[in-house]
Amino acid sequence: MKVDGTHYRTIWLAEDGKTVEIIDQTKFPHQFEIARLETVGDAAHAIADMLVRGAPLIGATAAYGIALAMRADPTNENFEAAFTELAATRPTAINLRWALERMRTIVLHAPEDHRAKTAYAAAAAVCDEDVEICAAIGRNGLKLIEAIAAKKADGEPVNILTHCNAGWLATVDWGTATAPIYMAHDGGIDVHVWVDETRPRNQGAALTAWELGKHGVPHTVVVDNVGGHLMQHGLVDLVITGTDRTTARGDVCNKIGTYLKALAAADNGVPFYVALPSPTIDFAIFDGVAEVPIEQRGADEVDRMTGTTADGRIETVSIVAPGSAIANYAFDVTPARLVTGLITERGVLAADQAAIAEAFPERAGRAAE
Ligand code: MRU
Repeated sequence: MKVDGTHYRTIWLAEDGKTVEIIDQTKFPHQFEIARLETVGDAAHAIADMLVRGAPLIGATAAYGIALAMRADPTNENFEAAFTELAATRPTAINLRWALERMRTIVLHAPEDHRAKTAYAAAAAVCDEDVEICAAIGRNGLKLIEAIAAKKADGEPVNILTHCNAGWLATVDWGTATAPIYMAHDGGIDVHVWVDETRPRNQGAALTAWELGKHGVPHTVVVDNVGGHLMQHGLVDLVITGTDRTTARGDVCNKIGTYLKALAAADNGVPFYVALPSPTIDFAIFDGVAEVPIEQRGADEVDRMTGTTADGRIETVSIVAPGSAIANYAFDVTPARLVTGLITERGVLAADQAAIAEAFPERAGRAAE
């Protein structure tokens, strides 16, 4: 997508052909900064400390992390050490493990003196594939928006609510939940996006709002608890969120608070769609609530907020009563029964085991073996 007229992906190979560059998402929305990854340790730090985040981008960064490791030392031992270090960074998004397993299959088949080159090519392929997949998600989700737009009076926008950031900043380009929105907007459909702030890290307010604004998509930021009220008053036509892991039967794990939006949507008859690339499906598990590991992050994320002061300084303040205990669950699970449909690169699917297995037989079959 474009930032002030320049096309960016969220991750790319630097001009030296060795180091990797990313957009540092911890600096949003105050600064637009590029960071360099030179070692596997840099890649692991970028994922764990959320310079990059979002399930697909975490996977892409891990793939490049393996390439950086193979450039330093292409032995099996170093591959396994890099795999372990990267896999430990964040537990919930399955794309991380998917990307690492794929790198293992490709890289360890190459002779040691070809492994670095092979790994860089495989990481670039993960990125290119993600862009293609997200574009296909966009085309498939666009049809849903078009159908709603066709029933609207002239000048009435299609109101879409989204949670967290499943935008292009969470992928390599386009985004998952946002891809249909960008395509609808670019195609002249009047869309308006309700952007959940998404405490504690504010991915909605800081990232989704920023990228929609850069692309000129009308949007309004709301605090996390507003969604139910908006739905009761007919102000949401559909919800589209992303996911970090979707089980074989269609339970959806996504940023904390997604489940509450799905409950409110069900109570108000608002369609609740989840956009996802197939690497986000974990065919090995079924019951999301019981089986998806939910990341718990540090108390500082809840206690601290960073913002710009009136005179332009960036400052961090503490907001919780001193001494209070803090819990920081980063994800929750929305059961498949609350999901209207899954917007994938192969079409919009029912959130059930048969539909998912039919759309992705090559992966569903292997998982069942
Ligand atoms: O903790 P984050 O910012 O990595 O969480 C991101 C999300 O929850 C996204 O909705 C999800 O990764 C889908 S990204 C296309």
